Amino acid sequence: MIRVPGDKSISHRALLLAALGSGTSRLSGVLPGADCRSTARILRQLGVAVPRLPDDGSPFEVEGVGLRGMEAPASVLDCGNSGTTARLLLGLLSGLSVEAALTGDDSLRTRPMARVTEPLTRAGARFREEGKPGRLPIRILGPPREPIRHRSTVASAQVKSALLLAGLGAGLEVEVVEPVPSRDHSERMLRRVGVGVRSSGEAPHEVALAQVPGSLDSLDLQVPGDISSAAFLLVLGLLGGRSVEIANVGLNPTRTGILGVLERMGAELGRENLRETDDPAGEPAGDLTARPTSLRGVEVEGPEIPSLIDEIPVLAVAAARARGTTVIRDAAELRVKESDRLRALAVNLAEVGVEVEELPDGLVIEGSDRPLEGRVRSFHDHRIAMAFGVLGALPENNIELDDRSVVDVSFPGFWELLDGFAGSAGGGAATRPGSPARPGSPARPEPSSPPRPVVTIDGPAGSGKSTTARAVAQRLGFRHLDSGALYRAATLALQRSGIPEGEWSDRGIEHLQQLEITLTPADSGFDVRIDGESQGEALRSAEVTARVARVAAIPEVRTLILEPLRRVAGLGGVVADGRDMGSVVLPDADLKVYLTASLAERARRRLLQEGVQPDAARLEEEARQLAERDAADRSRPVAPLRRPPDAVSVDTTGLAFSAQVDRIVEEVKAAIPDLTEPTIDR
Ligand code: S3P
Repeated sequence: MIRVPGDKSISHRALLLAALGSGTSRLSGVLPGADCRSTARILRQLGVAVPRLPDDGSPFEVEGVGLRGMEAPASVLDCGNSGTTARLLLGLLSGLSVEAALTGDDSLRTRPMARVTEPLTRAGARFREEGKPGRLPIRILGPPREPIRHRSTVASAQVKSALLLAGLGAGLEVEVVEPVPSRDHSERMLRRVGVGVRSSGEAPHEVALAQVPGSLDSLDLQVPGDISSAAFLLVLGLLGGRSVEIANVGLNPTRTGILGVLERMGAELGRENLRETDDPAGEPAGDLTARPTSLRGVEVEGPEIPSLIDEIPVLAVAAARARGTTVIRDAAELRVKESDRLRALAVNLAEVGVEVEELPDGLVIEGSDRPLEGRVRSFHDHRIAMAFGVLGALPENNIELDDRSVVDVSFPGFWELLDGFAGSAGGGAATRPGSPARPGSPARPEPSSPPRPVVTIDGPAGSGKSTTARAVAQRLGFRHLDSGALYRAATLALQRSGIPEGEWSDRGIEHLQQLEITLTPADSGFDVRIDGESQGEALRSAEVTARVARVAAIPEVRTLILEPLRRVAGLGGVVADGRDMGSVVLPDADLKVYLTASLAERARRRLLQEGVQPDAARLEEEARQLAERDAADRSRPVAPLRRPPDAVSVDTTGLAFSAQVDRIVEEVKAAIPDLTEPTIDR
């Protein structure tokens, strides 16, 4: 039996409601994918002690801070690629009157947010759009003040949930009408923590917050496997020549549309060990099996669409291998998912030789059994990558994918499972190449592959973090990730733009947003490129050095560089140094080190670094300046210097450099016991 990672929608909601509870919640099976890590990281920024999400879905506890306990965050809340995180938090935080700015990666910043902010604005909430109209970044300025009533034109669980959470936070009535029922995990989980939620259950679907208690019960919840992830494996079982059995999959009736459609296509699916099927506050689950079958084309449209909205990519792939024509309609929402999925599917299917027509709201796909071949793109979308991974793993197909790493958003371990299946079923090799996913997920079957951990080293000015990080990386065979180089690249780009310095924080940002600043693995670290061009020594010029601190203090610059930093850190095998690497940039790092040294020692090192002889007067002056800088760094509004609470402090006063490096290498080995070999190929 295979297990798939926890349900993404339920995991997000479990983290949020556990955080708002009044006691200790115990959660297990939570999806450790990048999207839920974004929610967990943001909760930490709001003052909730959420531990690192376990890679294997094992249980952990969250101490709720109560309905009024969240703190205003010190920095921007980055939702990464996760639409659910962004929309649910826009609702919840506005309801709680927590002033915060939310942003996301390039894809999320193109997705519509007005569907949440507009109904809340009508109820009196205030937001400031800091990017394009209706898109992130958005700053929450004030709470809704009147009952929230909304008739939505789309069946969106994110919109419905955002409004319910806003009402919960603000203590206001909520009534939402959606054209047909969307997934109802929020309604079920709210009931579970003691909130009264009414639901008409049929189209048009009316949902209302009936009664909000003064405090929420804690949760004791086991998150079932994600049917949206299981769907990829079911199609593989139907078409890949070998049965699959998947244990403990969520079977909430608002999510199981894909099962009905596959059955209409001729699939034989088994459902066993069914649980919690009648509990209005529970989540039905059970085991699923799929046996090899030949499929026929099908029509999918209307009220069925919301119940399988995330499964359409894999359905399109099944359709490409079915007899006859498949028509999908009423699915225009797919154009505003992690990518324009209708376009992405049409482009990729055509690329590998499938006859496909793109409709404004759907696809017409002609199935065939001829071998499919070609190079496809992920469009930075996890489900597009996985759908074509499945197509590539079917017998006789030969499909290359540009980027495999994106699957981490919802299904860490997907490629290992798929490669194992393709090998044992004698099917086509699953698509390659691309960067490997981070290790450790419920589905990852290879405990023997060397771990690729992430280590962060932060500390005050003069603590020697960057030389130390370089030496530690070298000793471990990791790459050194020097975040400062990205700030230097941003500074260099601004300088070259000719935009006057006084306008760098507005026009300058617009300019930077047009550029692609990337990190490419090179030697023992990373090469910084601007629009594909390596920058080399230009990054170290005196002009750049003189201005880089100012540029690094612009919040939007810090947000812009989060993505390239997190992207390369996601490859693992990295020692990253900076000011906020452990606290803001990579809060899920495997080991966080915070370097300190006495003021006198740091002053001495800085003078030596500058080639100045450290006599008593100079030492005193340097120490005074450092103390001032420490105070300013700690209180600055942007990326203040803070020791991450889960960091290991290493005081290097009196330690020779080599002893200091030894000490940190020991800490890494203690924190990551199966670390053996250097992990990068140079
Ligand atoms: C989700 C709702 C759906 C779905 C998404 C997760 C949720 O989005 O596509 O993957 O957890 O509420 P919409 O609400 O935009 O349809």
